[in-house]
Amino acid sequence: MADGAKPNQSTDTAPRKIKYRKTKARWHPSMQAIPVPGIRRMVNMAATMKDVIHLSIGQPDLPTPKHVIDAYIDALNAGQTGYTMDAGLPELLVALRDYYGKRYDRKLTKDNILITSGATEAMYLALSATAAPGRQFIVTDPSFLLYAPLIRMNGGEVKFIPTRIENNHQLDPDEVIAAMGQRTFAVVLNSPNNPTGAVYPRSTIETIVEECAYRGIQIFSDEVYDHLILDDQEYASVLRCSVDLDNIMCISSFSKTYSMAGLRVGWVISSQATIKSLRRYHMFTTSVANTPSQFAGVAALTGDQQCIRDMVSIYRERRDRIVDLVAQTPHLTGYQPGGAFFIFPDLPKHVNGSDLALRMLKETGVCVVPGDAFGEHTENALRFSFSASVETIEEAFDRIIPWMAKQPF
Ligand SMILES: Cc1ncc(COP(=O)(O)O)c(C=O)c1O
Repeated sequence: MADGAKPNQSTDTAPRKIKYRKTKARWHPSMQAIPVPGIRRMVNMAATMKDVIHLSIGQPDLPTPKHVIDAYIDALNAGQTGYTMDAGLPELLVALRDYYGKRYDRKLTKDNILITSGATEAMYLALSATAAPGRQFIVTDPSFLLYAPLIRMNGGEVKFIPTRIENNHQLDPDEVIAAMGQRTFAVVLNSPNNPTGAVYPRSTIETIVEECAYRGIQIFSDEVYDHLILDDQEYASVLRCSVDLDNIMCISSFSKTYSMAGLRVGWVISSQATIKSLRRYHMFTTSVANTPSQFAGVAALTGDQQCIRDMVSIYRERRDRIVDLVAQTPHLTGYQPGGAFFIFPDLPKHVNGSDLALRMLKETGVCVVPGDAFGEHTENALRFSFSASVETIEEAFDRIIPWMAKQPF
């Protein structure tokens, strides 16, 4: 209908003067907090090339245990294709309550748990429901690339605490405490860490948890790699180290432990009051997690756990080999990561890791992730993933070592 025409009034004879205004998509300004991920740039270029070896992958390459897949298929065949309760499938809440209760000798109820679409949704809910102007979040530099943008999108401020290769990328709890001030609202922890593979000892977690409880500072603990501990070391979860859950949100998922990244089930564990609020928010975002995947999760938790021990021994062998190979590579400084499936070696100080990674991909066909994808002071680093067979890792370094030897640094 033309401008000014009444409904049902014919305008057939009037000249059509419809003007389309050129419109740009007008995103909320918060979208500016989302960077173009360094990983994407590399993976896009790799997609145009032949014979690429990926040491860039952030998900397990090992197969999902058969009993987990069977449970998923059985759920579908049994017609489990509807929504679950908003907090999650009751059977999964019970399985998680029992599993964590036993693992950390901690009394939990179903109301301490919310099931989400992966740890990503859990982290999204937790950070976006709390980040606000005037609130400062302490985050390690480097860190998993989701945290800082989610905090900043909602007006929160990120205070980076560096971890350093000289210290095997361990987090110094005294540095964390020294960084706390009037505006500090929260600390984000991630052990084992992506991208460094550092596993924080119990003393680190306990010291930070105690100080945060004393000062009323919130802790978000991303524990998705909690089973990928490659040395003989007890895993220090915040659930083991905290007296109560009032200022703790422990986040994890099935993605890494059971090679279930695509099935998208994660969770938050916290106080009942926190879970009650997050549950409401969850209803207004994804509403519920994938239903057959939640049945697969029950099978994962209640089934034979030998699959985890097998997976850890495979990752350990790969870790040992890649540590060796990094040590043999000119211009790379390595260390021994204790968990996850990443190593984050340094390049010489003045070298731009982003440019080097692109050239390495073009000239050797090996794809790794530049350090600047994970922080503000990590330009001269590269992330290598050992979610690839020993043979693949060796083939990659057969290309990388002579190429690096030729670099004129
Ligand atoms: C540290 C960390 N947290 C969370 C996630 C996301 O996990 P999920 O698949 O459960 O969403 C990843 C995935 O790479 C990760 O490395």
